[in-house]
Amino acid sequence: KRVVLDRVPFSGGQPRKGVEEGPSRLRKQGYKISDFGELQVPDIKRHNITNTTLVKNSLECGTVSEKLSQEIAKATQEGKLSLTIGGDHSIAVGSVFGHASVAKDLGLLWIDAHMDINTPATTTTGNIHGMPMSMLIKGIPEFQSLPGYEWCSPCLSPEDVAYIGLRDVEPQEREICEKLGIASYTIDDIDKDGIGVIIKKALKRINPNGDRPIHVSYDIDSLDPKETPSTGTPVRGGLTLDEGIYIAQIVAQSGCLSGIDIVEFNPAIGTEEDVIKTAKNTMELIKILLGKKSHLEKAPLPPVD
Ligand code: ARG
Ligand code: MN
Ligand code: MN
Ligand code: MN
Repeated sequence: KRVVLDRVPFSGGQPRKGVEEGPSRLRKQGYKISDFGELQVPDIKRHNITNTTLVKNSLECGTVSEKLSQEIAKATQEGKLSLTIGGDHSIAVGSVFGHASVAKDLGLLWIDAHMDINTPATTTTGNIHGMPMSMLIKGIPEFQSLPGYEWCSPCLSPEDVAYIGLRDVEPQEREICEKLGIASYTIDDIDKDGIGVIIKKALKRINPNGDRPIHVSYDIDSLDPKETPSTGTPVRGGLTLDEGIYIAQIVAQSGCLSGIDIVEFNPAIGTEEDVIKTAKNTMELIKILLGKKSHLEKAPLPPVD
């Protein structure tokens, strides 16, 4: 399967400058993936409140996601695997919506420390990178579309979605998630049962017969800050690098992967050493998702069951 790459140098979904440099930094560090060009993104006047709610940069975020969704839809139509490198996590509205608009039975695996399911009514920060799931999933209480997002409407059912890696969930997000019955696997669950059991459960849930296309939205803050320090909202106690790699490996081996996001690498955060390490680990996840054999396959984890 050929890969379509979109580099999305966009940071308007959150307040910290630098996450728009993620894609170019990977390049600068010598990592090459055949390149189908960069999405043109609007210039963000930081903290610009573009509408009547608290939400920041909604027109800009919506515009970027709309363009991205069109490119991803086209790639999916052509039977290609799409890879979207961010940029902040707001762009997943575009990639997932575009993917789901063509792949009607899409399942979504959201790997993140956060749920990113706030709504314009529940957000405490106004940052759209904390909200993409609320725009993608049907049945969100009091759903309202934001300015800039008129092109998009919820496209997934709650049972099409599973979370892995959660450890910084706001009470109102938990409430939404429980109400909808979305499968959520936290770091505690992984510590208790092991990553092998958890990834199996998550995939079983969103792809019970192994015949559905899968979108993986990989927020690098799901990993422990020791592994990916250069990210805007780090949370201690995350996935180990091996756990992160293992998830990527199992998903890649499922043969069902048809869309990938990898987001929230911010090379303006941390020391040079931090940035180099984050780029390296981010790139390793990308390569394994694209089918590279991981070191775990050479020294496999013990089988589960
Ligand atoms: N829950 C917080 C918020 O709504 C943090 C979200 C962090 N999201 C991310 N994609 N890193 O703003
Ligand atoms: Mn996150
Ligand atoms: Mn652990
Ligand atoms: Mn996220």
